Amino acid sequence: MKTLTWTLPTRIFHWLLTIGFAAAYILGDFEDQRSLHYAFGLLVGFLILFRLVFGFIGPRYSHFRDFPVGLSHQIDFAKNFFSNPKTWLGHNPGASVVMLLIFLVGLFCSLTGYILTTENYSLFSVSFNEDTVKEVHEILANSFLILVIAHLLGVIADTVFHGKSGTLASIFTGYKNGTEENVYLTGFQKAFAVVWFIVPFIFFYLAFDLPVKEEGNDDKDGIEQEHEDHDD
Ligand code: HEM
Ligand code: HEM
Repeated sequence: MKTLTWTLPTRIFHWLLTIGFAAAYILGDFEDQRSLHYAFGLLVGFLILFRLVFGFIGPRYSHFRDFPVGLSHQIDFAKNFFSNPKTWLGHNPGASVVMLLIFLVGLFCSLTGYILTTENYSLFSVSFNEDTVKEVHEILANSFLILVIAHLLGVIADTVFHGKSGTLASIFTGYKNGTEENVYLTGFQKAFAVVWFIVPFIFFYLAFDLPVKEEGNDDKDGIEQEHEDHDD
């Protein structure tokens, strides 16, 4: 028996987030691709923002009440991982923690990135130190990468040790192996999903209007160095 666990919006979100994160992370290292980096970075931020709302208004399994993050669940999950694994139709306890951290870290990574494009490194009139924001942005981006690696290792472990649950296939088809009722979307949830996948692309487009700041003073340093050499 199969149970529809992930509705279409959750799967579309997942694959857009995957593409958005990969592109933003890789483009972060290319100074000549700043605008495209901003675009993918904002796409990630807004996709996550809407996913957070979906966590409160969405269907079973995608709803935050179905994220078993409590300590007793974690202990139970770890103790029985190999011997007597329970089938989790939604996220298992380990995955739930990683998912919530991805949402949190991804959102703040996008936000710190946006602050870097503002004139005074500010948000809602609160100014931040430029170097600190750069440092925090980089730390968040690398934490995001670590979480993605943990997520992929989790999916591999689940596939190897709990293959019967059909988790890997579920993020493509929506179905896991189970006997529960299929999830379904209400009209309101469907309408929300349409907005969810339009707004992030509007910000993707608007990102190209954000100012790209000149980075590094390598040339200036070089000129100063030359002057110093002549003075000697
Ligand atoms: C940048 C790369 C990726 C990111 C940021 C990411 C993030 C996420 C997130 C946030 C969820 C939760 C979805 C939700 O509740 O809305 C999820 C679920 C899932 N992802 Fe990924 N993912 C990535 C790549 C992949 C890849 C490459 C695969 C496998 C081919 C994969 C397989 C899965 C599976 C199987 C689930 C469902 C897990 C479960 O049943 O608990 N992910 N992913
Ligand atoms: C969650 C999505 C994002 C990821 C994963 C990400 C990742 C990165 C990475 C890996 C770097 C290179 C860090 C370094 O080695 O110096 C970087 C730099 C940068 N990012 Fe992002 N970024 C994201 C979102 C954004 C957004 C939305 C903006 C702006 C709208 C932005 C603006 C910048 C800027 C200005 C830099 C250069 C910082 C510097 O000069 O050190 N980022 N980002």
